[in-house]
Amino acid sequence: MKQNLIRNFAIIAHIDHGKSTLADRIMEQTQTISARESKAQLLDDMQVEQAHGITVKSRTVRNFYQADNGVEYEYNLIDTPGHVDFTYEVSKSLAASDGAILLVDATQGVQAQTVANLRLAQENHLTILPVINKIDNAAAEVDKTEREIRALSPKLYEAKIYRISAKTGKGVHEVLEAIHQVFPAPSGQTQAPLKALVFDSFYDSFKGVIAYIRIVNGNLKLGQQVKLMAANTAIQNKEIGVFTPSRTATDELTVGDVGYIITGLKDPTSLRVGDTLTDANQPTAEAFPGYKPAQPMVYAGFYPKDDAYRDLELAIEKLSLNDSSFQYVRETSEALGQGFRCSFLGIFHLQIIRERLKDEYGLNVLTTAPNVTYRVHLKDTNEVQIVNNPIAFPGFAKIDYVEEPFSNIRITTDNAVLGDVMKLADAHKGQLTDMGNQAELIVLHYRIPTAEIAYDFFNALKSISHGYATLETEFADYEPADVVKVEVAINYSVVDALSFIVHREDAPAMTQQLVKKLKHTIPRHLYPMPAQAIVEGKSIARVDIPPLRKNAAVNGEKRSISKKQALLRRQSMNKRQAEKSNIKLSQDVFDSILDIS
Ligand code: GTP
Repeated sequence: MKQNLIRNFAIIAHIDHGKSTLADRIMEQTQTISARESKAQLLDDMQVEQAHGITVKSRTVRNFYQADNGVEYEYNLIDTPGHVDFTYEVSKSLAASDGAILLVDATQGVQAQTVANLRLAQENHLTILPVINKIDNAAAEVDKTEREIRALSPKLYEAKIYRISAKTGKGVHEVLEAIHQVFPAPSGQTQAPLKALVFDSFYDSFKGVIAYIRIVNGNLKLGQQVKLMAANTAIQNKEIGVFTPSRTATDELTVGDVGYIITGLKDPTSLRVGDTLTDANQPTAEAFPGYKPAQPMVYAGFYPKDDAYRDLELAIEKLSLNDSSFQYVRETSEALGQGFRCSFLGIFHLQIIRERLKDEYGLNVLTTAPNVTYRVHLKDTNEVQIVNNPIAFPGFAKIDYVEEPFSNIRITTDNAVLGDVMKLADAHKGQLTDMGNQAELIVLHYRIPTAEIAYDFFNALKSISHGYATLETEFADYEPADVVKVEVAINYSVVDALSFIVHREDAPAMTQQLVKKLKHTIPRHLYPMPAQAIVEGKSIARVDIPPLRKNAAVNGEKRSISKKQALLRRQSMNKRQAEKSNIKLSQDVFDSILDIS
């Protein structure tokens, strides 16, 4: 395809505003797929995506569009996720695009993620095509939504705004026409040496690592000798192709094309998204700067069930290749053995990775309570330890002071639930720094400890605002904090994997709740066992986990004295043995900690 006839674009929007539905309509109207195929939202094909009704991974599809002016164009469409935890995926897709359709649901208007994604698109110098969706819906407020979009930026104030129903297809043809009129063609040079951006990757169990690429300069022929510049690795060039939407092999990719290359690499860790693919003999002068690495917010341990350590390791390696914002290192716990300390962009991201391990690799993992990163300043030395694993948190006698991460957050909400939203932020130690209006919504800015928003904050916000309030988060800095490590001892022995970090002032109430929950989640034994929460060597909460059977010492059954004594002797022997025995920890036990945080 001639370079001036190619258009590379992404669809960006707030969650559920209809990106995937519009992508399906575009593929249908360009005859890339049939109406029958599009029934099942072809792009959201991962099991987790169908279960949650959302997009997790970006997708790429090549379409040919026969325009009204008689010219055939190549439209490379990149579908992107909308949830706040997947912003990183969005920024990768945008680096491979020249334009972005900004899609806004007419029943909801401009929302926080609309603004955040628009900002990302503007940072990448993309041309924006504003589109209002769901005009068929009885609750649609089209004029109001249009005013909100115009208020977003001076360029949008003057732009033509399209009105569509992605569901019925109304207005989609006009958008297809606008794409070739408004978006620029790719600007690279055909004669220059090959320079392609690796913007995503995937691990195929038969073919190994597959890199998703956009050709920026030059062209890529099948079999040509190529290399990855940052990794400095020569790779094989066994198959190249495009997405239709399934992988379809071709002989050549030229400037502006978006496609894939099968690299022949078997090790999923050997390719990094953001790398530059170039000709091995005639490399391009300058590589791409690479992506800003994702900023992890939450850490948790993943441990295999059923001795499947090696399987878990392979699955984690592959998932982290497919989702470069998910990282891991090996770790060991006394209670759980060998596992992995993993980092995530948020708690929902953690949940999705856990589900993908189950859906795609058949693996159940034990997940420890999540935590953020602390900077621990040690007494007597100037050493600062970066701790993202409570097991490694230094003993309190060694600590001078601790710093915890803070975030700047932006909550967009409507007036009706403002009071409840502010109460929630207050309860999570948020300090209000600014308050303003955006269209008819209220925008609140808070400075808040990252740990306070890392777990359930997003869900609580959604629940009190009936799904409408939105949250944007950004790491701010570290600040000294009075935090302590809580250790949990079952039957007088500390279970390292159950340790967690909290603010000192919250420790008494939280540990009381925790031990109550442990009473129901720790498996019972033949003897009573105490569960204790310990802070700085002192037990601050305790509960006795009752034994499985009735206790001879307390039950009122009629027995002969000698029988009763024999029973008591047996029970006390069991108890002594139990002090050394291992407690089997189920996921429920770890969830007890998560529930109270
Ligand atoms: P994420 O990928 O999770 O961010 O969501 P999305 O933006 O891709 O939204 P999706 O296409 O999955 O649509 C969300 C919901 O809105 C679905 O139930 C769609 O059927 C519905 N929907 C999408 N477009 C329209 C429309 O034009 N009219 C109406 N009435 N509903 C629509």
